[in-house]
Amino acid sequence: MDHLPIFMDLRGKRTLLVGDGVMAARKADLLLRSGSDLTVVAPALGSEMLTLKEQYEFKHQSRPLSEGDLQGCVLAFGSSEDEALNEQLYEFAKRAAIPVNISDKTESCDFIMPALVDRSPLTIAISSGGSSPLLVRQLKARFETMIPAAYGKLAEFAGSYRDRIKLSIPDLTQRRRFWETMVDGPVAEHVLSNQMEEAESLMHKLLQKEEGNSEKEPVGEVYLVGTGPGDPDLLTFKALRLMQRADVVLYDRLIGDGILNLVRRDADRIYVGKRRDDHAISQSEISNMLVRLASEGKRVLRLKGGDPFIFGRGGEEIETLSEQGIAFQVVPGVTAAAGCASYAGIPLTHRDHAQSCIFVTGHQKDGRLNLNWEALIQPHQTVVIYMGLMSLQSITEGFIEHGAAVDTPAAIIENGTKAGQRVVTGSLTTLADAAARAGIQSPALIIVGSVVSLREKLSWFAP
Ligand SMILES: C[S@@+](CC[C@H](N)C(=O)[O-])C[C@H]1O[C@@H](n2cnc3c(N)ncnc32)[C@H](O)[C@@H]1O
Repeated sequence: MDHLPIFMDLRGKRTLLVGDGVMAARKADLLLRSGSDLTVVAPALGSEMLTLKEQYEFKHQSRPLSEGDLQGCVLAFGSSEDEALNEQLYEFAKRAAIPVNISDKTESCDFIMPALVDRSPLTIAISSGGSSPLLVRQLKARFETMIPAAYGKLAEFAGSYRDRIKLSIPDLTQRRRFWETMVDGPVAEHVLSNQMEEAESLMHKLLQKEEGNSEKEPVGEVYLVGTGPGDPDLLTFKALRLMQRADVVLYDRLIGDGILNLVRRDADRIYVGKRRDDHAISQSEISNMLVRLASEGKRVLRLKGGDPFIFGRGGEEIETLSEQGIAFQVVPGVTAAAGCASYAGIPLTHRDHAQSCIFVTGHQKDGRLNLNWEALIQPHQTVVIYMGLMSLQSITEGFIEHGAAVDTPAAIIENGTKAGQRVVTGSLTTLADAAARAGIQSPALIIVGSVVSLREKLSWFAP
């Protein structure tokens, strides 16, 4: 990070601005809205400054800048069209150790001014550190359209209840939950539509309930969330929302940092994948951990690669929860077959190639592949094999032994949808050797069927 983002309380504090044009007026407007005691140094005020003067009080000094003008100032701004004047301000400010900002001259700035989305008291400041003003503008435009204009009112409303809620709900976790219910629920809806009486009345009811409930046992919940095959952009809105609510997260090897970093920052993280000694925590240990944490009143996030209900043991985990009476939600994710196929440019169905698609696991049990070859080798069908890398050779041979054409197109996708995605294509005869030569590693997904031939035309993702 090149700059430290801070929000500064300028109420009643002296600031100095040199300049009188449009840029200077924009800065003056911000400073005055922040309640600063502003002095503008300029021979005369331009029309924008004069308009400001009608709304706010500030001092205007028409005589030349002197070193004494900076006395008692906390910030100084140079926005004059006269560069020499900006330079003079810069020197004075440096000598007096006052942070200074000279417009359009990054090398003469102790701080930069971010773009703002103003829903006061809620404020979003955006900066690219000067590297891409265009991106900043685009992001600002998105926020402006996404965040309702009355959001500031909601922040004010919440602020007016802060002290009472702190007293009524001393427990931090319970208090956060109360706020989340309030901000996501009907109280907020009333505030945003300016129905303040209804909002107040509902808020009182909520608080009364909470105060009456304060002796009750805390009850937690488990969120079983599918995160997709790896690209964080493939997360659903719901997944993201629950990720940001969790108190504790249980994750395994397939969950990359890009996704893990989106979980609420102060949530506890528990790794439940294979450990260094190569021993995975057993399924029953994980299920028991989920039950224990939820019973402590925590919001437990169980992250699963892809979709929790597709070769993800999600069903087993929630079975235990259901038996123990723990509340849970399941959030579907993009399964590896869908994600990898899309990012490899291989449509799983296509009118000219395949009217059905079948997902199987290539995981061996007792050293043997247990596949229903008759069901797999059907005309106009795509077969997707999860966890098949170790058995790739046996799989391709099995297809051929059971009657599939030796030249049936086949592909293997390593790290699908991620920056390191690699795709190797061939036929049932050549794929295993080609994958070995390329050194394909787990996680990898195999696709068998004539749809694979479309990749030549449809490949689009260049990691
Ligand atoms: C235990 S299964 C979990 C599947 C997951 N629940 C889903 O819906 O995608 C793990 C297997 O999924 C496949 N897989 C998951 N993510 C993948 C990725 N990004 N690229 C390739 N294969 C992936 C691999 O075959 C891996 O061995």
